[in-house]
Amino acid sequence: MRVGVLTGGGDCPGLNAVIRAVVRKGVQEHGFEFVGFRDGWKGPLEGLTMPLGVKECRGILPRGGTILGSSRTNPFKLENGVEQIKENLAAAGVDALVAIGGEDTLGVATKLADLGVDVVGVPKTIDNDLSGTDFTFGFDTAVNIATEAIDRLHTTAESHHRVLVVEVMGRHAGWIALHAGIAGGASAVLIPEQPFDIEKVCAHVETRFESEYAPIIVVSEGAVPVDGGDMTLVSGEKDAFGHVRLGGIGDRLASEIEQRTGKEARAVVLGHVQRGGTPTAFDRWLATRFGLQAVDAVADGEFGTMMALRGTKIVRVPLSEGTAELKVVSPEEYAEAQVFFG
Ligand code: F6P
Repeated sequence: MRVGVLTGGGDCPGLNAVIRAVVRKGVQEHGFEFVGFRDGWKGPLEGLTMPLGVKECRGILPRGGTILGSSRTNPFKLENGVEQIKENLAAAGVDALVAIGGEDTLGVATKLADLGVDVVGVPKTIDNDLSGTDFTFGFDTAVNIATEAIDRLHTTAESHHRVLVVEVMGRHAGWIALHAGIAGGASAVLIPEQPFDIEKVCAHVETRFESEYAPIIVVSEGAVPVDGGDMTLVSGEKDAFGHVRLGGIGDRLASEIEQRTGKEARAVVLGHVQRGGTPTAFDRWLATRFGLQAVDAVADGEFGTMMALRGTKIVRVPLSEGTAELKVVSPEEYAEAQVFFG
């Protein structure tokens, strides 16, 4: 059997570990041949392939990113996209596909499976917001990077008696903010699932300073104020301290805190640092186990499935389970941490 492998969507530490596990087990135990498709769904769409064997996978386990490249191309948004994919898979002599990706990539895989393409999916996202699986790989690495940043920011915030606002990734879900906020001992965590009250945030900042404590506020990039709030700053404006504010939520929040409390505040946007570089041991372990299970699913002909972590077991669930709805932080999980944040 000849199996195609692709990685789509935003990159994520652990992608190479999945590719390596799929190829190693596929060659050694199932006698499969592999072909790599470059840059997500763009690869099969445009017939962009690369050799993929045990040799290509040597040394990639600890490497961040993806040796296959990635993109956010969606063939269902393009005219004749699906037909082109089917033609190119046939031209490359590919019998089955392993698609490694997040909501969008696996959404495409789900639709292609319904149209008769033999595909299995492996879930990835640093945001950990895919349903169907307890964790996605990449999340642990992102949380560790954010936690280290918070640890470092505590000392500089205390030295300068400043507020430090740390903006982390998470457009729709606050998992990175919540986990890193707890692990890093943040003073407050603001997430997309629970609109925040700017007045309460500022009151909290003042209370923290009263106990001679420089507050660290962790905010997800997708967090929003209640009812849009009355946060005033416009992108590019200078605030009361003469800093130009760029307009991301972290920066806007820092500015608003300065204006309302008179305490100096700085924002740090962690951005793509959270996605780059070497995966943690946990992410290598999870990604490897997903890869091993995915290639077994191909061997068993269990197409239309996605690999999932349930407890400590890797199981196969319908692809649609991973993409049906986003997994977000529940009010209970958020409330649990408020003893530290309130
Ligand atoms: O979906 C993962 C993610 O890392 C989000 O948290 C973030 O908003 C987005 O990707 C950034 O994507 P891009 O690299 O395309 O800017």
